[in-house]
Amino acid sequence: MGKYAGNSLGKDMARSTAYYHLLSKEKGFHDKIHIVIASRECGDIQFLLSQGVRRDRIVACDIDPVARERAASYDILAVGADIIETIEWVNANFSPKEIGSVNLDLCGTIPKTVAILNAVMKLTQCPIFYTFIRGRDGVTSSDARKALLRKRVEYQCDIKDNLWLEYQSNTLTSTGSPMCLCVL
Ligand SMILES: C[S@@+](CC[C@H](N)C(=O)[O-])C[C@H]1O[C@@H](n2cnc3c(N)ncnc32)[C@H](O)[C@@H]1O
Repeated sequence: MGKYAGNSLGKDMARSTAYYHLLSKEKGFHDKIHIVIASRECGDIQFLLSQGVRRDRIVACDIDPVARERAASYDILAVGADIIETIEWVNANFSPKEIGSVNLDLCGTIPKTVAILNAVMKLTQCPIFYTFIRGRDGVTSSDARKALLRKRVEYQCDIKDNLWLEYQSNTLTSTGSPMCLCVL
């Protein structure tokens, strides 16, 4: 679902703002299960480990087998390929209270990825970090994009302005894409 050029300062800032929000608001952040999509870069995994989250509290997945191998090299449980199967596995093995977050970063636009977001929302009540490409969605402003997301999401969706984190995913080798991480 799109090429991923790697980590960028903007991505790091959005990720740390979102996890910091949970850390400061929710009790027991470190004891809860955090579900991530690994990617070959394992950026979310490295971030959670750097914050002292235990390896057995992180559950990773990726449809890319190489990404799953990379996650496994950090001694992280990479139980399944697809995010939906992975959340189903977590639901079968942990109580809802034990689940701290799902980080849904598919590197696609809202129209391309909102069906998966809806499927994730159907399966869990925990905070969801939803990252998408800001573009190819028929709108040009942040407010219109928030309205589009509200319209396309089938569940209760509280979009907070301070957790609508827009950035450019540029790195040393790539100009990147306009992105947004929002916490739902
Ligand atoms: C932008 S990367 C994720 C980066 C990750 N957040 C990080 O910080 O390292 C997107 C990844 O989503 C994976 N992917 C796409 N569709 C997926 C799905 N349905 N279930 C699980 N992984 C998926 C791709 O293979 C790719 O590795």
